[in-house]
Amino acid sequence: MKENAAEPAHPPREETLAEVNRRRFLEKLSIGLGALCAAILGLPVVGFLLAPLFRRAPGEWRSVGSVSQFEIGKTVVVSFIDASPLPWAGVTAKTAAWLRRVNDTEFIAFAVNCTHLGCPVRWLQDARLFMCPCHGGVYYEDGSVAAGPPPKPLTRYRLRVVNGDVQIQAAPIPITT
Ligand code: FES
Repeated sequence: MKENAAEPAHPPREETLAEVNRRRFLEKLSIGLGALCAAILGLPVVGFLLAPLFRRAPGEWRSVGSVSQFEIGKTVVVSFIDASPLPWAGVTAKTAAWLRRVNDTEFIAFAVNCTHLGCPVRWLQDARLFMCPCHGGVYYEDGSVAAGPPPKPLTRYRLRVVNGDVQIQAAPIPITT
């Protein structure tokens, strides 16, 4: 009589305990090697993404306008790009400072961030005070603390004038917590 074509010539045999153990070992080994390869290939990418967070920002000079556009005695807000913006920062790379033209040649610039928790302070021209809306911090026009919780004066930026161009040295702003 003819054999059924669907039936295998040799029925599957039972795996021995040693074969099962070897198969499990090889499975674990291949998973381990796969993870190791992924880690080796992924490390440079992770390093590239995280390195800017640990790199010390250089003090970059940023132009904020020409001398002639600033009125003597006026304090105005100027914006510029952060010292070392992260590659993915987008518009958040922009920061600002309060810039005052003191006289023909002298300028002074304060960070906009309150030294308490970093809220942006506002300049009140008539009162000649900086006010922080978050917890009522108040600073005199020279940046020293007048009232409220700020523990220290507003941070000052270094400034220079190059060929009629006012430049601020952008640097990370220390905030007290
Ligand atoms: S953040 Fe300015 S007073 Fe608190």
